[in-house]
Amino acid sequence: MDRQRSQAFMLKLVGDVGTAMAAALAYVGDEAGLFRAMAGAGPLSAAVLAERAGVHPRYVEEWLAAMVGSGYVEHDAAADRYTLPDEHAQCLADPSSEYYLGGLLRAIPNVTAIAPKLAQAFRAGEGVSFAEFGADLPVGLERMNRTVYEKRLATSWLPTMPEVVARLQAGGCAIDVGCGTGVAAITIARAFPTARVVGLDLDARSVAIAEGYAREAGLADRVAFVVAPAEAMPRAPSADGRWDLITTFDVIHDLPDPDRALRAIRGALAEGGTYLMVEPKVADTLAGNVANPFARMLYGISCLHCVPQSLAQGGPGLGACWGPARAAARARDAGFGHFQALPIRSPALAFYEARVGG
Ligand SMILES: C[S@@+](CC[C@H](N)C(=O)[O-])C[C@H]1O[C@@H](n2cnc3c(N)ncnc32)[C@H](O)[C@@H]1O
Repeated sequence: MDRQRSQAFMLKLVGDVGTAMAAALAYVGDEAGLFRAMAGAGPLSAAVLAERAGVHPRYVEEWLAAMVGSGYVEHDAAADRYTLPDEHAQCLADPSSEYYLGGLLRAIPNVTAIAPKLAQAFRAGEGVSFAEFGADLPVGLERMNRTVYEKRLATSWLPTMPEVVARLQAGGCAIDVGCGTGVAAITIARAFPTARVVGLDLDARSVAIAEGYAREAGLADRVAFVVAPAEAMPRAPSADGRWDLITTFDVIHDLPDPDRALRAIRGALAEGGTYLMVEPKVADTLAGNVANPFARMLYGISCLHCVPQSLAQGGPGLGACWGPARAAARARDAGFGHFQALPIRSPALAFYEARVGG
C-alpha cells in the first residue's frame, strides 16, 4: 500500500464530494436568485445580499461560505464583503449569455435524485424511463441549450450548409427529431418565414410545452409538434412528403434503436436533402476523453440519464460519449453516402452533415 497515494486519493474524494455539494448549492443560488442579486453589484455584505435577494440572512451567510470555499465567490476578509466576479456572473446569472450554464445546474436535482433507483436498476439490469426523471426535466434540458440554439442555429450553424439555407428560404420543410420543448424547431421557423417546420418527440410533456411556445411566438400555423418515436417519421407537408432538412440535437445516443432511426431519417429525406446530426463533442476513446472536463461531466450525465433511459426503451444505451468514429460508421451503415463534420467551433457540440448521395 502506497500511503502517500492513499492520502492523495482521500483528499481527492473529499474534494469531489465538496464539488457535488457546491453544484447542489449553486443550483440553490440560481433558483433563489442569489447569483442574479450579486451580478454586477460589486462587493456586498452578507446582510445586504440577503436583503437584495429576499433570502433568509442565515442561509445567505452559510451559502456564501460554501461558495467562497468552492471558488465561485470572492471574499474580502478585511472588509467582510463578497463579490461575484463578472466572468463568473456571465455563466451563473445571465440566461441571455451563451456562456450561461444555469441550465446545467437546473438539471442536477433531476439526474442525481434518480441515484437510489439507478443503483437498483444496475443490479436488476433495468432502465429508468425519461418520465421517471421528474416532470420538470424537459425544462431543465431546455435551459441547457436555449440561448445557444437561439443565438447560433440560424445565424451561424445552418449557414455552413448553403443548400439547406436556400431550400428553407424557398419554403422547404424541416423536422427536428427528439425536439424536446421545441426551441430548435421554433428558431428555424422564425429565421425562415415561409418554411414549414415540425418537431417530433416521444415525450408528451415536452411536446405540450413546445406547442405552448409555438402559440406564444405566433408560429402555430407553420410549426407543428407530434408525439411519436423517432423511427416513425411523419410525411412532410410537401408534394413528395419528404423533408429538406432533418435535425437531431443530442438525441441519437438516447434512442432505443439508433440504427433504425438513422435508416428512417435517411428514407424520409427529399432528393438532395440534408440530415444535421448534433452530438456531444468527445473523442472516440475513454483515454482520449479523460483530460476533458466536458467529457467528465458527460460521462456522468450519460451514466445517470442517457444510458438508463435508452435501456428503459429496450435500447442499447449508446451513451453520450459514443464519439465521431462510431457516428460515422452508423451513418454509413444506415445508407448515408455523405457524412462529414461541419466546421463549426463549439466546446461541447459536434456537428455532422449527412446526405444520401456521396
Ligand atoms: C437530451 S434530450 C434533447 C432535447 C432537444 N433536442 C435539445 O437539444 O434540447 C433528448 C430528447 O430525445 C427524446 N427521445 C428519447 N427517446 C426518443 C424516441 N425513441 N423517439 C423520439 N424522441 C425520443 C427525449 O424525450 C428528449 O426530448
